[in-house]
Amino acid sequence: MGDAPWEVGYADLHAKTFGGPSAEIIALADQMPHGGTVLDMGCGEGRNALFLARKGFTVTAVDILESAINKLSTLADWEGLGIQAEVADMCQYSLSGPYDVIISHGCLHLVERVRWQELVDKLKAHTVPGGINIVVVFTDTLPPPADLADHCLGLFKEGELFSLYLDWNIELQKSYTFEDKHPGSPRHTHSVNKVVARKPPNPALSLTWCCRAGFAVESVSCCPSPPSARRPKRAGTRPPPRGSCR
Ligand SMILES: C[S@@+](CC[C@H](N)C(=O)[O-])C[C@H]1O[C@@H](n2cnc3c(N)ncnc32)[C@H](O)[C@@H]1O
Repeated sequence: MGDAPWEVGYADLHAKTFGGPSAEIIALADQMPHGGTVLDMGCGEGRNALFLARKGFTVTAVDILESAINKLSTLADWEGLGIQAEVADMCQYSLSGPYDVIISHGCLHLVERVRWQELVDKLKAHTVPGGINIVVVFTDTLPPPADLADHCLGLFKEGELFSLYLDWNIELQKSYTFEDKHPGSPRHTHSVNKVVARKPPNPALSLTWCCRAGFAVESVSCCPSPPSARRPKRAGTRPPPRGSCR
């Protein structure tokens, strides 16, 4: 890494490098069982990890930068929060869990495509049935600014993130841009994909899974039907009505 723009903020205990907790984390906190387990991969200085620890979650936070983990640990100590914070490369990290919630906010595009492909599989596998993944990535719809170009090793293609979660229940899927400014770089715009997805309590009952597997989806009870219930795949067959498997 070396000279990423966020390192300036990590060296300052009073800086809020990425602002407060993200909106979907705030929304989620009230829906999840008190004391649930959270893994924040690429946690930075911990805006989301600290927020969830304050809410009573049991949080593990991982970042490759020592400065990030030092700052997060100090802030957690000041508040008496017991966050397990570790310096590690998220791609090499040996996940335990399974976790109720796994977050990767603004990080996966910072590693090569082949590495995030493997990592997303691991994140999904280490989530409890009924648990949540929250993933936010930059896409290549807009080029990254000069000071981030060398860091964005694996920009996603538009929609690619969503396709990785088609076998889960997608609770929020958002494609957007936002304006940003780092010290020493001109104002610029990022293109972003965000997903909040829930692992099916029983994967066989996921509606998106049923659609992908070719089952006719009229109601959840049709999902375990035998292969004879499969929708015939003919050229020109119309897809199921929009919304029937989302
Ligand atoms: C844009 S910051 C986002 C930080 C935090 N997730 C947030 O939303 O505030 C990206 C973070 O990913 C971390 N990161 C990049 N590559 C990583 C890797 N291979 N393993 C762990 N963390 C990594 C960086 O050190 C940085 O703290």
